[in-house]
Amino acid sequence: MKTIEDIIKKYKSKIDYLDLEIIISRAINKSREFVLAHPEKRLTPNQKLRIGNYAMRRIKHEPLAYILGNKEFYGLDFKVNKNTLIPRPETELLVDETLKVLSNLPARRTGGFSNKFSNTSVVDIGTGSGNIIISLAKNSKQKSGCYATDISEKALRVAKQNAKLHKVYEKIKFFKSSLLGNKKLLNNLTMKQCNNLVIVANLPYLSEKIYMLSPASVKKYEPQSALLSSNRGLFHYEKLLKQLKKLHTTYYPPATPERSDGGRSIPHTTCILEISPEQKTRLNKLIKQHFPKPKVIFKKDLAKKWRVCIITL
Ligand SMILES: C[S@@+](CC[C@H](N)C(=O)[O-])C[C@H]1O[C@@H](n2cnc3c(N)ncnc32)[C@H](O)[C@@H]1O
Repeated sequence: MKTIEDIIKKYKSKIDYLDLEIIISRAINKSREFVLAHPEKRLTPNQKLRIGNYAMRRIKHEPLAYILGNKEFYGLDFKVNKNTLIPRPETELLVDETLKVLSNLPARRTGGFSNKFSNTSVVDIGTGSGNIIISLAKNSKQKSGCYATDISEKALRVAKQNAKLHKVYEKIKFFKSSLLGNKKLLNNLTMKQCNNLVIVANLPYLSEKIYMLSPASVKKYEPQSALLSSNRGLFHYEKLLKQLKKLHTTYYPPATPERSDGGRSIPHTTCILEISPEQKTRLNKLIKQHFPKPKVIFKKDLAKKWRVCIITL
């Protein structure tokens, strides 16, 4: 009967040591500390089979998150599968910045009732596994008014499972939608007067050139539709800006004295977008082409690369 030590010897030249420890610990349902402390532990045939299966998949470059079916993000554990992008650590900056925006929103009075959170809608566009909106729902004071969209039904299924797992399913409404295009979503956003609209998006933004340079594990296993965008990576964000402009002009007609009683004024709108560093200047230009006086701020990630764009409209 083989031991943990035998298995480590067998695979250590083929698999990163840390990955191997994680694979063994998951296959035998024990902690990594246990794996380290008990090299003499004998493995059952089933455990050996599981380790062999995981190890072979890893050797073929399948990401560990897909093999194990989960990935940690913002201190929470998310289910992932081949239909969802694996949440990236740099996306935590997007959540940090959105939480800051949410806690600094202008408090506006509505009908004598002032609660700065009750009239805020937060929309996560391209939700994937739901990692962003679920982290926001868990860490902000939003009690409701959270929305998540994705063009992929299969990704939305995973996002809903994660929302249930983290007990925020009741706070979030999910829509299959191309960006903001779903009529039901738009009705939800515009039905009641919403004072603050916060759009957060980590949409596909890799240019063809950068996508081609991605590691084999990304190109072979992660959904291309979650990563690649035409127009040198800005097709999706430009389309979103256009939809947002239409939303402002069509769904929130400018307030006039005549309609001041029933008319809906444009909500204070903030967009927080994850970008590829080289897109900063081009995106800035695009935003200014679509909106007359936006306030645009860019933030760098821990690697000192431009990663997040915050637009206040
Ligand atoms: C870069 S992934 C981000 C996933 C997740 N939000 C994250 O941060 O890990 C982009 C997501 O956008 C979705 N997507 C692609 N095109 C879309 C569109 N036109 N409308 C809505 N979602 C779209 C993809 O299915 C994918 O889930």
